[in-house]
Amino acid sequence: MCGIVGYVGQRNATGVIVSGLQRLEYRGYDSAGVALYSSHRKALVRVRSVGKIAALVSRIEKDVPDQDGLDYTLGIGHTRWATHGAPTEANAHPHFSRSGEFAVAHNGIIENYVALKERLVQKGYVFTSETDTEVLAHLIEECYEGDLHRAVAAALEQVEGTYGIAVISSRHPGLIVAARKGSPIAIGVGSGETIVASDISAIINYTKKVVFLNDEDIATITAEGLDISSLKNVPVSRELTHIDWSLGQIEKGGFEHFMLKEIHEQPQALANAIRGRLLEKDGTTHLGGIRMTSAEIARIRHITIAACGTSYYAGMVGKYFFEDLAGLSTDIEQAAEFRYRNPIIERDTLLLAISQSGETADTIEAVREGMRKGATVLGICNVVGSTIARETERGVYLHAGPEIGVASTKAFSAQVAVLAMLAIVFGRARRLSGSTGRDLVRELLRAPEVAAAALEQEPAIKVIAEKYARAEHMFFLGRGYMYPVALEGALKLKEISYIHAEGYHAAELKHGPIALLDEHVPVVVAVPDLHGKSKTISNMQECRARSSPVIAIATAGDDEVNRYSNDVIRVPRCLDFLTPIPVVIVEQLLAYHIAKCRGCPIDQPRNLAKSVTVE
Ligand code: AGP
Ligand code: GLU
Repeated sequence: MCGIVGYVGQRNATGVIVSGLQRLEYRGYDSAGVALYSSHRKALVRVRSVGKIAALVSRIEKDVPDQDGLDYTLGIGHTRWATHGAPTEANAHPHFSRSGEFAVAHNGIIENYVALKERLVQKGYVFTSETDTEVLAHLIEECYEGDLHRAVAAALEQVEGTYGIAVISSRHPGLIVAARKGSPIAIGVGSGETIVASDISAIINYTKKVVFLNDEDIATITAEGLDISSLKNVPVSRELTHIDWSLGQIEKGGFEHFMLKEIHEQPQALANAIRGRLLEKDGTTHLGGIRMTSAEIARIRHITIAACGTSYYAGMVGKYFFEDLAGLSTDIEQAAEFRYRNPIIERDTLLLAISQSGETADTIEAVREGMRKGATVLGICNVVGSTIARETERGVYLHAGPEIGVASTKAFSAQVAVLAMLAIVFGRARRLSGSTGRDLVRELLRAPEVAAAALEQEPAIKVIAEKYARAEHMFFLGRGYMYPVALEGALKLKEISYIHAEGYHAAELKHGPIALLDEHVPVVVAVPDLHGKSKTISNMQECRARSSPVIAIATAGDDEVNRYSNDVIRVPRCLDFLTPIPVVIVEQLLAYHIAKCRGCPIDQPRNLAKSVTVE
């Protein structure tokens, strides 16, 4: 997704902004640009380019050299993920107003830009881009009467849609105005310098003290700090959050790709997710963030889960947990469907929004729709201070650490662990006994070691990946807990290797998809030693009867699967509810090594973005 970085202080703004944009590269973009205040020229200068940040850097060195390194101490930068207007230099941000005295970098969509643009054109404003964003630059100029903050607020009052913006003006050389509605803005408070960005990874190299704006906040930012108000100019105070993610956590840590680093971080991510939350003696869990008493938990009659992509598949596992362990009826919906189909929210319905980034547009709107319909809403997010984390007011952080690779890995297993903990505490407010609760808690305490054992299979997985890396089609099958895991395995493979992969319920195969099987279509079957295994073994035989090679993911020591498989990858024995974790780790490694064999750009797959912050 798009990214914003702004700087005001004593350093060379160009260097801070460019390195900040480089830290945001993982979010996916198609063009980039910077706007800087030149203290020599007393004017704004701008450089933009299509493609990677490297292209922008060479343009900056050529077009706006900074001999003494201090000509530019104020500036904003942007990486664009185009929504209105092709990825061209003219459409790249920052956008200038007619006079060139105002510059805007914008994340989001101005939904009423056509009407605004028509009015501005009639007033003589000349547009130089096809974007929605450019209307903001002209509106700010039109509203300007000497106060930049008020001009931006007045412009935003006319806007419908979503925005995270940073604005500078040659009339205010020490000032940045930032605002947000639906697209995140964080402000890093340093000493004698302030950095504004859409993602904390661009900030924490300079300061760990961060303020997150809420929707309709607008901030006036100087080197000394910031003031926040509403668009109606009512002062607002937002807490200073101390970010404990080190830059090293964000760097690759010696792995070739962020994705591989994050796959291997899963034992630690799981340990972080459960830390301080498992009460073995009482056979339950403690999740302070849900801020619900046992009586309130006991009153929940139904759970609806809304999520997208990998988080949706984790939610499917959660459905099994809530029904199996807590005796709670649960449904799971794609967030984009939930938000538009006028869902029925009964009294005492809990809406669970699952989102690693906490910024997925459809999931945010699902939260808002659920709140409008009176649901109690709870968020499961990984990113501190993200929109969903703040708007749901109650929730559970994954504490999995930053997930940079576009393909989600450790977030999935951490989501499964958090959902299991929720199911235990919800179950203990119902029919789940203390002794069963203790068994589940003890098993959950094994999650990090179970994940580590799955990771030890990597050398064997690498060999199998090399064997099947040329396949053009692949199936993933599973039943019960393994059904959502099969769907997730197929998603992992398709998004990073570009192989056409389908996840299916094992029993569904013969209702049509089996027509696609032949010797060129390998089938990955998640068949740990669980209830229903014998049925899945029959499905494996059906695949083999069509000459499809079968790759089984099976429990260590379970040799029954050998004669129905071409290849077997072993996972440690664990209770049914924990099996999604080791099995998904095997699928992640299989997808990673196949993609590597195929020479794919694993951390930033084509067409994909880490967080889909637009519809
Ligand atoms: C998963 O590998 C994909 N990157 C994608 O499906 C992702 O899970 C989805 O966009 C949801 O993201 P979220 O968890 O941040 O809401
Ligand atoms: N809608 C704006 C554009 O298309 C911003 C897109 C983004 O969020 O990067 O330029």
